[in-house]
Amino acid sequence: MKDTKDLKDQWNASLYDLKHSFVSKFGNDLVDLLAPKKGEKILDLGCGTGDLANKLSELEVIVLGIDKSENMVHQAQKKYPKLSFMVSDAINLDFEEEFDAVFSNATLHWVKPPNKALDGIYRSLKHGGRFVAEFGGKGNVQTITDEITHQLKNYQQTPQFPWYYPSIGEYTTLMEQAGFRVTFAHHYDRPTPLEGDNGLRNWIEMFALGMFEGISENIKEQVLSKVENNLKPLLIKDGIWMADYKRIRVIGIKE
Ligand code: BEZ
Repeated sequence: MKDTKDLKDQWNASLYDLKHSFVSKFGNDLVDLLAPKKGEKILDLGCGTGDLANKLSELEVIVLGIDKSENMVHQAQKKYPKLSFMVSDAINLDFEEEFDAVFSNATLHWVKPPNKALDGIYRSLKHGGRFVAEFGGKGNVQTITDEITHQLKNYQQTPQFPWYYPSIGEYTTLMEQAGFRVTFAHHYDRPTPLEGDNGLRNWIEMFALGMFEGISENIKEQVLSKVENNLKPLLIKDGIWMADYKRIRVIGIKE
């Protein structure tokens, strides 16, 4: 999600679908972990442009997709007019014991404070309901963010860090504090191919512009060129840009 800025909707939903559809493709096996059952009511938290909500609906569940980005929700509704989508912020969920499961792919690393989201997720679930999520864990894309940070500092600029990348210990503790029984937690490396010669640049333009907030276009351009050059030997494998994703997967049960 598509959940990072308060004032401006930074998400370009068409670019997201065109160049970054891997986000929902990788989410397909999170759906297996969710193991949806026919007739269940499921909240897709951070639905983006709706592809996983659509996959869930094909499994005969009743799905509501929510996202903080109006652009994403608009695109999702256009692609899947028969499904239900809504603009909503993960830290202000307004549901009471409505869902059998809350499902979230590639969103919670944008959401701060995490405990506020977890409280809302817990409240949204029926008794016995499950929370199944995947998002960036400690060290996620660190090769990229370290290099951007280093280059920005060379220009006496202070980089922002818009994400929350917890360790398993940190996140499962927060889950327990919210009331969940944590039944599964996994922190793993998932090297992620970025399409095309401009793969790294496109990825930064899509996901990491928050690091450049308040920084001039001119400096941003120079930093991007240096980052690309310096990371080529580290991140191009067999001619393909590979981002050093590290993900967390969790399951929590509301008891
Ligand atoms: C994402 O939203 O998919 C994402 C954001 C930052 C780093 C990696 C992935």
